[in-house]
Amino acid sequence: MSLEITIEKAKVSRISEFDPQNIGFGKLFTDHMFLCDYRDGEWQNARIVPYGNLSMSPATSSIHYGQSIFEGMKAYASLENDHDITTFRPMENAKRLNRSAHRMAMPSFPEEDFMNALETLLNLDRQWVPRIEGGALYIRPYMFATDDYIGVKPSDTYTFAIFCCPVGPYYNKALRVKVEKEYSRAAPGGVGFTKCSGNYASALHPTREAQKEGYDQILWTDPIEHKWVEETGTTNFFAVINNSIVTPSLTGTMLAGITRDSVITGLKHLGYTVDERPLSVDELIEEQQKGNLKELFITGTAATLMNLEGFGRDGEYYDVLTNGDTHISSEIKDFLDNMKLKKSEDPFGWVHTI
Ligand code: COI
Repeated sequence: MSLEITIEKAKVSRISEFDPQNIGFGKLFTDHMFLCDYRDGEWQNARIVPYGNLSMSPATSSIHYGQSIFEGMKAYASLENDHDITTFRPMENAKRLNRSAHRMAMPSFPEEDFMNALETLLNLDRQWVPRIEGGALYIRPYMFATDDYIGVKPSDTYTFAIFCCPVGPYYNKALRVKVEKEYSRAAPGGVGFTKCSGNYASALHPTREAQKEGYDQILWTDPIEHKWVEETGTTNFFAVINNSIVTPSLTGTMLAGITRDSVITGLKHLGYTVDERPLSVDELIEEQQKGNLKELFITGTAATLMNLEGFGRDGEYYDVLTNGDTHISSEIKDFLDNMKLKKSEDPFGWVHTI
């Protein structure tokens, strides 16, 4: 049986604080949020309330031991049609949340309730979806442990929540990435495939170090040899070598990005060859030196698709964008963007209209 959602509407909307010409990323939140508690072995008290602070015990176990997982999604408003808003493959987020939950010893949240919560919340806050080129409503579903107990064990209680914020682009320019050889993101058998908070925390110090050297981001490599490309601190990774598109195969240490999968499927639909296989930094350097490395790009929900300017390793910088091009990355970006805005056909049934 699906959860009943109670709704307490905000007395006054904060929409006047929202300037569509000056959106930024992730600092302004919509009027409402969804909350649901896991108590006595079941999800209960599903509710939409005005967006606001949560109160918690200093002993809240997620703060100490990291039982904390999240998803990232976006809703789009068609520029042509005033009424529809769309989400993209939302069920994949519901499923991935539950894969993360399983690995982190957390309860799954029923997919049907995930969709119902998402739709009810978006219906209430639909006027917050930016109607400008490149804008979207970023949706953050997340779950965290709430026991006030400092022994190390899976929490008995959790909160699942969703809030939203209008956003512009996450990255505004092509990035310079540093091949990370000192630090590692995840090891085989670990939690690298989950969207747990710690996977992002582990990128913060190496990224800050890389930024001091003039880079924008890090490119994680495998934890054993630091030879094989994995993903960046925030996204998956693609390379165009001649006319073939390569992305590192999922090893269990990387996030199975929904945008990554959409790009692979979309490119194949457009007639390109995409190889999911081990991709070494040495190969990237060799192909760059031969002039065969045409495009590098990254993919994620927040970042959507962004080109890399180049990458650095051991103090050498390998520029890809100056003499390369962006026609494959632009083609797949437009293909997916047009689908999300219902400007083109959706051959895969990915667009979910609300
Ligand atoms: C997303 O792309 O939605 C993420 O969760 C990554 C984060 C860097 C914002």
